[in-house]
Parts: sequence; structure tokens; C-alpha cells
Amino acid sequence: MSDTTKKSSTKIQQAEKPWNGRFTEPTDAFVEAFTASVTFDQRMYQQDIAGSIAHAKMLAHIDVLTENECEQIIDGLGQIKQKIDSGEFNWSIKLEDVHMNIEAALTDLIGITGKKLHTGRSRNDQVATDIRLYLRDEIDLVLNELKRLQSALINLAENEADTIMPGFTHLQTAQPVTFGHHMLAWFENLERDRSRFIDCRKRMNVMPLGAAALAGTTYPIDRPFTAELLGFDGVCENSLDAVSDRDFAIELISNAALLMTHLSRFSEELVLWASAQFNFVELSDSFCTGSSIMPQKKNPDVPELVRGKTGRVNGHLISLLTLMKGQPLAYNKDNQEDKEPLFDTIDTIKGSLKVYADMMQHVSVNKEAMHEAAFRGFSTATDLADYLVRSGVPFRDAHDVVGKAVRLGVDSKRDLSELSLQELQQFSDQIKDDVFAVLTLEGSVAARNHLGGTAPEQVRAAVKRARLRMAD
Ligand code: ARG
Repeated sequence: MSDTTKKSSTKIQQAEKPWNGRFTEPTDAFVEAFTASVTFDQRMYQQDIAGSIAHAKMLAHIDVLTENECEQIIDGLGQIKQKIDSGEFNWSIKLEDVHMNIEAALTDLIGITGKKLHTGRSRNDQVATDIRLYLRDEIDLVLNELKRLQSALINLAENEADTIMPGFTHLQTAQPVTFGHHMLAWFENLERDRSRFIDCRKRMNVMPLGAAALAGTTYPIDRPFTAELLGFDGVCENSLDAVSDRDFAIELISNAALLMTHLSRFSEELVLWASAQFNFVELSDSFCTGSSIMPQKKNPDVPELVRGKTGRVNGHLISLLTLMKGQPLAYNKDNQEDKEPLFDTIDTIKGSLKVYADMMQHVSVNKEAMHEAAFRGFSTATDLADYLVRSGVPFRDAHDVVGKAVRLGVDSKRDLSELSLQELQQFSDQIKDDVFAVLTLEGSVAARNHLGGTAPEQVRAAVKRARLRMAD
């Protein structure tokens, strides 16, 4: 919730409910608070007002409102927006939600014409429109932050294209890779996330307005006219579907959950790498915290917290799937429960991406420690096997020869490249003195010089392609 909306939500005014004509008893005070959504859906006030302005223009366009009435409505809504922007608006629980609060304020302000705004519309299509508009705007912000993080990773990859680290499988040293290549692996994860958000934005960007409560309206509304004013690509085809569909919200949270899963895995690596045992990277002081009791501690709180926040987004995904699973068509009040999980998801991914984008611009890389770790881990063992295969040894036999050489290295606490030619030759007479060229870490990574490989040359080419892919 923004500061301005928080401030204004505390004031409660007495107000008459627009729907109370058929009621003879007042709403129970607790039920009133229980069913209200204004404390959280006021966050969509800008979209609600934009939707109402477009709806009023459409009503004028089809001569249901006069030009003068339309102008009064637009002017009134503009004043209300300013009031909300500045935190001076009195939100009322009695008026239930953002839609009725704004509509009632409009009528207070401009009189009877305000009551005409809701012609040919229902809160059911209004809220479905507002959420889509709101999420569309938020997706654009998420995409910006995603790109910022991706750029930071591309820059790191470029700077560290030649930096060697151990690549892991089972968290055991496997083969040497370049740090740049590793960073670009995370870039790929994020690039898939980006395309999923773009894709879900496209499907989301159709307008429910005009479905009214569920069946459409008797007015000769011009839905494409309103849709164009609001920047929608089209209109929802079926009125029942328009008011009841929340697939777009589930898609968004599902994309967010996957994004958080990626950030969580990346966080796990950073936490390990920043430890004294790995010492591969140092996170900038401004992204870490200390311990109140242990003076030596510098804790990687940011990646830890991002890893932790993944849980709440996964929870929101389950909330929304469960929210929808029992609902018959069309609108049901259950749908009001979509907002808090959605808003928290948006806040969580925007915050996580922002802090990650900033943090990754200030990571220092400990080349020596990574090189040393790759060197100590027999990471060129596969290269030795490939060398033997090139001299005609079947791969399985080569695997066995190298296994024995590794055993000698383990026993004598030496890397393969530190064994003598004679020692190596006792395992295979196919080993010649040119073997040492393949046993170096640099030789090992440079040899994986194909599209998608870890060779520095490939990393530099992939960096170029990544920049181009980001441009669209
Ligand atoms: N606050 C409601 C929601 O978020 C708005 C729509 C309510 N419609 C209704 N007929 N009660 O879903």
C-alpha cells in the first residue's frame, strides 16, 4: 500500500450504500468490515478512475450522456484523483470498495450527474477491468526491473568471460566453467521469465467492460471504443467469461512463482559462494548486515530473504488456484479474495528484482579462490578421458584409466596436472607429453568452443546475442 493511500484509509466517513434500496435493516457492523475491500483495493484507484473516464466518454459517444454531463464527470473524477493522490480522500468502509467510494465521492461533488456514471456497467465488469489495467501497469514495471537485473548479469559475464570456476553437479566439482558462462545461465532463466510475463500481459490485455453484471447491457454500448481509449488490444468475447475469469491473475502469479524459484536458486549459490568456505564472491557491504553478537559476521541477508520470500509467492499461487476451483459462473464475491495475494506477489517480485539488480552491480569476484577450487577438484578429469578417446581408447576404458589417475592424485594430494608423465603412463601407454596441455583449466574451458559452450570466446559471443535479445 502506498503512503498516500495508507494515510487516507484511516479516515472513515458516514455514507449511504448505493445498493441499499431493497434493504430494510442496516448491515451488521462486523459484516460491513468483513465484506469490505476498500482497505486494500483502493490501491487500484488510478485504474478505476481511468476506466470510469473511458466509460463516460463512451456513454457520451453513444448519446447516453450529454457532452456536458461527460465533462462534469471527467472533471469531477480528476478532482477526486488529486485528492486521493495527496492523501486527503476519506475512504469509507461503509462504501465497501474502491469503486463505490469513488462513485459516491463523485456524486457528492457534482450532484445528480455523478449517479449517471454507472449506466450500463456493474462493479463486476468494473473490477475485472481495474485489475487487468492495474496488473498491466505493474507488469511493465516488473519487466523493467527484470531487464535491469539481466543487464547486470550480462555485464558481469562480459567482465568475467575468462574467469575460471569449478562447475558443479551434485554440488561436487565436475568440470571447469567460466564465471561468465555461469552468469549467462541465470540470464537465460530470467529471459524465459521475461517472455512469460510479456506473454501473459498479451492475454490479459483484453477488456471485460461491457459485460456489466454478467449478461451484458441493454444500452447500445461501443465496447471497442472504450477498449481503445484504455489501451486494450480487444474486448473479452463472452460476458459471462469476462466477469468470472481470473486466469490472467493465476498466470501472473505462476510466472512470479517461477521467477522467485530462479532467484531463490541463485540466492542459494550466492549464500554458498559468499561463505568463508567457498569465498568465490564478496557482496558489497551495503547489501549485507552484521551480527549483534558476532563481530566477524557479514551476513548475505538479501539473497537469504529473497530465497525466503519465494515461499509466500508459492503460497499465493495455491491461494488463487484454490479460490477459483469451486466457483460456478459468473461473478462470485469469492473473487474479492484475489487482490491481496496479487498485490503481495507484485510487491514481492518488484522488491526482489530491484534489490537483486542493484546487488549484482556490486559483486566482487574472487578469481583466485575460484581458480584454486577448480584446480583442486580434479575438474579436468573428463578432458583427460577425451584425450585418451582421441588416441583410440574406448571411452569406458578411458574413464577407468582416469579414475585410477585421480585415485593417485587424491592419495598424494596432487592435481592431475601435477602428476609426472611417467606416473600417468603407468595407467595407459597412450598418454604422451602433450597431455599437459589438456590438463590445464584454461585449455579445458577453451576446448568447449561451440554454441552454448563455456569457452571464453563463446561467452563473449553469447553476451553480444543476449544484448540484442534484450532490445526487444
Ligand atoms: N469489491 C468487489 C471485488 O473485489 C467488487 C465487485 C463486487 N460486486 C458485487 N456485485 N458485490 O470483487
